[in-house]
Amino acid sequence: MKIVPISLDLLPDFPAYLQECVDAGIEHYTDALKDPEASLRRNIDIAQGKNLPDGWCPQETYFAVKNQRLLGAIRLRRGDGHFIQNEIGHIGYEVRPKEQGRGIAKHLLQYIVDHQLTSPALVVCDADNIASARVAQTIAGTEGERQGEQLRFRLAP
Ligand SMILES: CC(C)(COP(=O)(O)OP(=O)(O)OC[C@H]1O[C@@H](n2cnc3c(N)ncnc32)[C@H](O)[C@@H]1OP(=O)(O)O)[C@@H](O)C(=O)NCCC(=O)NCCS
Repeated sequence: MKIVPISLDLLPDFPAYLQECVDAGIEHYTDALKDPEASLRRNIDIAQGKNLPDGWCPQETYFAVKNQRLLGAIRLRRGDGHFIQNEIGHIGYEVRPKEQGRGIAKHLLQYIVDHQLTSPALVVCDADNIASARVAQTIAGTEGERQGEQLRFRLAP
């Protein structure tokens, strides 16, 4: 498995990846499924800080890939603001449903800490998302701080 930045090289397997994620209830890809190539291009731009939607900061996306098959993705938002601090955090991730439970999310998050973080980062997950909380807790090395229905984890570069 290797970790690569988002690029058009990922296009062959991207539609299947999106479909399997959406079928499993990972809703943030519903729009991307309508036009996977446009979504890939949009997210390449966003990683480079180009054509950012209003209020967005640059967001880099990295994929875990094996034999051209996409295994999971992680997003790193290089910026800050109320929405990041209170809703989504600096880092978001998901793993292809059939590949879950093999340590891929932990590997992706450790990669971000080791190779991409340049300032402290916040990971926010729903308190009832046990798998996501385990991933963040393992890499942060601390239990999350409970805030309402959320758990919040702080990662240092
Ligand atoms: C959260 C998610 C990314 C985890 O990916 P993954 O590759 O399966 O995670 P890993 O294999 O690296 O680690 C999962 C950990 O959670 C544990 N886990 C997984 N499902 C669990 C469950 N239902 N109950 C308890 N623990 C669970 C695993 O045992 C493992 O724990 P460990 O560190 O003690 O070994 C994946 O479940 C996913 O894509 N979920 C949907 C999207 C999502 O919720 N993203 C996070 C938004 S904040």
